[in-house]
This record gives sequence, C-alpha cells and structure tokens, in this order.
Amino acid sequence: MSLFLKKPISTLMAESAESEKSLKRTLTAGSLIALGIGAIIGAGLFVRTAAAAAQNAGPSVTYGFIVAAIGCALAGLCYAELSSSIPIAGSAYTYSYATMGELVAWIIGWDLILEYAVGAATVGIAWSEYLNRLLVDVLGISEIPYQWCHSPFQHSGDLHGIINLPALFIVIILTMLLIRGTQESALVNGIIVITKVSIVVLIIVLGWSFINPANHTPYIPAATTYVDPDGLSHNFGGFWGIIGAAGVVFFAFIGFDAVSTTAQEAINPKRDMPIGILGSLAICTVLYILFAHVLTGMATVEDFRTSGKEASVVFAINKYMIGYGWLSKLVTVAILAGFSSVILVMLLGQSRVFYSMSRDGLLPKVFSDIHPEYKTPYKASWFILILVGLFAAFVPGDIVGDMTSIGTLFAFILVCIAVIVLRKTDPDLKREFKTPLVPLVPILGAVVCGLMILGLGWTNWLRLIIWLLIGFVIYFTYSKKHSVLQNKDNAIPGIDPLKPDL
Ligand code: ALA
Repeated sequence: MSLFLKKPISTLMAESAESEKSLKRTLTAGSLIALGIGAIIGAGLFVRTAAAAAQNAGPSVTYGFIVAAIGCALAGLCYAELSSSIPIAGSAYTYSYATMGELVAWIIGWDLILEYAVGAATVGIAWSEYLNRLLVDVLGISEIPYQWCHSPFQHSGDLHGIINLPALFIVIILTMLLIRGTQESALVNGIIVITKVSIVVLIIVLGWSFINPANHTPYIPAATTYVDPDGLSHNFGGFWGIIGAAGVVFFAFIGFDAVSTTAQEAINPKRDMPIGILGSLAICTVLYILFAHVLTGMATVEDFRTSGKEASVVFAINKYMIGYGWLSKLVTVAILAGFSSVILVMLLGQSRVFYSMSRDGLLPKVFSDIHPEYKTPYKASWFILILVGLFAAFVPGDIVGDMTSIGTLFAFILVCIAVIVLRKTDPDLKREFKTPLVPLVPILGAVVCGLMILGLGWTNWLRLIIWLLIGFVIYFTYSKKHSVLQNKDNAIPGIDPLKPDL
C-alpha cells in the first residue's frame, strides 16, 4: 500500500460523469465570476485591512495588497491550468490526488479546512462586529452585550467574552440556505455581489477627498516592533511590515480558488474556470489597492489600534466623513450582506471538498450522501456547521483570520508545485488553459506565497504545524485504511471509482 498512489485522471472524469449521484450542472462563466467576487470581497477588505495597517504596515498596507495580489495571480494561473484539465469538484485536493498522490492529497484536503471552514468562521466573526453597528447606527437600538459577541479569549477592560452568538447565528442560517442548492444560492449571491462592488466604489470615490496627507506620511513607517494588547509582537513598518501585512490581507483574496471547487457544477468548466478565477481576481485587486489607500488616508494607525479596531470602515466614515451618516448606514447593510455571500461560498467550497474526500474513502462515506431533492451533500454541510460554529463562537477573529491565511498560502504552494509535476508526469493531458512560462510562474508563485508565510510569524507557523500533525494522525489511523484507491472494497456500493467508463 503506497502513500503516493495517484488517482488516474480518467477515473476522475468517470466519477464526474457518473449520473446517479452527481451534482447538477448549472453554473455559467458569468455566474462563476460572480461566485468568485462573492467569495473574494469580504472581511479581508473590511476588517483585515485595518488590522494589517494597525499591526504591520500603516498606509503601506497598500503595498501588502500588491504583494498578495502578485502571489495570488501566480498561483491563480496554476489553479486555472489544473481546474481546466481536471474539472472535478474538490479544488486543490483533487488536483493533488491526480498529480502527487494520496498523502499529499490528504495533506492539502486537510489544509483546505483551514481555508474554507476556518475562513467562514473568520467572516462570521467579522459579520458580528458589523451587526452591532446595524443595531446601534441603523436601527437605533442597543448593541449586543460584549460577552455575547466575543470569544472567551477576548476582553476589553473588565469585560470578558463568553461566546460569539451572532457569528454562530449567521453560519447556521447560511448552512440551511446552502443545503437548499447551489442555484438558489448563486442567484442571491449575484445580487449581493453587485451591492458589494458598488459600495467599495462609492467609498473610494466619496472618501478620496477626505484623505488627510498627514496620515500617509511617511507612507512606509520606519521598521519597529508593535506589541498588541494581548502581548503579541508584530513587525511594524519597513520591508517586513509590508510582507506581514501581505500575509494578513492575503485573506482578502481568498475565494477565487473556491470557484474551482464548483467545476463539477459548471456547464463548460474547461473554458469558464480560468475566466472565473482570473477575472474575479483582477477586478478585486484594483478595488482593494484604491480602497486601502482611502481608508488609511482617512483614519490614523492609532484609530485602528484602539476605538476603530472593530467595524473599522464604518468607524472611519462616522468619525471623519462628517455629513455622510447615510453612507455609513448603507455600508453597514451592504457589508452584512456581502459577508454573508462570502461565508456561503466558503461553506460551499468546504462541503464539496468533504464530498470528494468522502467518495475517495478518506473521510466517512456519509459526507457524500446527496440530498434526494436538492442534490447537495447535505450531511457534509451539517458536519461543517458544527466545525465552523465552534471556531466562530469561541476563537478570536485575528487568530482564525491568520490561520486561514497561512493554511491557504500553504495550499497555494502545493498547487504551484502540482503544475510542474503534472507537466512532467502527464505531458499529453489536454489542457484547455496552460500556465505561461512553466516552471518560472509556479516557482515564483511558491516563493511569493512562502514569503507571506514567513511574514505571518512563528505563532502562525506553529498553529499550521499542529493542524497538519492532527491531520497526519487521522490519515494514518482512519483514512489510509478506508481509502478506495488503496482497496477497491472500500468503495461505495454501486460505484467503482477505479473503472473509468468515459
Ligand atoms: N476573501 C474573503 C474575505 O475577504 C475570504 O472575506
């Protein structure tokens, strides 16, 4: 029994064609771009930008966005090649199963839980911050008491968090929507995407005249160390400040790869996957740089370290854009809707990865049960709800945010390597989209993503290592024994995943 057994690509294709249990094909190129933007613009922009400015880079967080965008574009080109040649649900997990074998596939699938499930929890927590602004600024009622909207690891003066109930609430609602089916979710998502992009453009245009040049001087602060209220040190200013900021705001780009997890639901995956991935990435990059420039020009780094730490965008509008109360209300509502669409896509991505891993026997078979009416892997969704709910309710946003970033960066590196490996091992594979300049582009992608991992600091490296170790234990005690590829008898009755029939 080899740890490096590879899943034949013809087998993957056969699985996707298998009719009885397969997912409905309903998504077009347009809906994929919408799905991408729906996943991309969210807490990374409206929450993590201020955190990166406060902890790492001040105004030069914009350069952090540029570094993160370069890493994403390079990795995105690799994602596009893989998803156009292996149009199957499961994202980087599936690609690595075909290219680098079972153990690597497991590592990446396990790692993707950080990206999707922990990412969804991060956005849920950000949602909870802005919910309080809705209650106070828009509805004029009192906010949720501190202890009921913060994790037990957070405190503010004498107040201590107990549980983040709003974050838990939104995750439950969206799981239920997701179980009803992709098509309905994609329609809701489309409306939200338009709202979200409009809001970002509005803040850039209206906020531009409120930029105070003093806040942008110096644009790159001198290198020093910032110790946050919890006693954690961060590189602030200089080169490492920018790289640290890139690692933090990298979160804002996560999601374009979630598009690739829905390949099995795309009508024309070979053509539309690259369009969906790279198109949504390009649009967001431009918006982000302009937005971060305006935000750090309006408010000070000190604001983002203190009273503007939570719901930072609405804070900045309320404090500095006098007379624009209507904008802060509009932004609050749009952000809440926008975050919901992000959570939805993260949950969608996670359920599809679980679905694939379960069909391969690496996770229990129950996760590939498809709902008879809605055609969604509903049992996987229920399980994910528990996982995401625990993170959302009990872990602080900064921690889950950086865990998401580091987990995703690690997955991106493996995807870059997979492109190089597959070019060598399967040169004749039909690739609708080819990554340019291989191996230069994948190597640069891996280097830039690796640099951002370095920038995230040792506490995050440690969290990633512990997470991967837990994954190894599960693989060697459960998954390896139940793997369908290792032993055909483990297959779900009626499906022979080793017999391609295309
Ligand atoms: N990119 C997504 C966000 O910023 C995950 O919320």
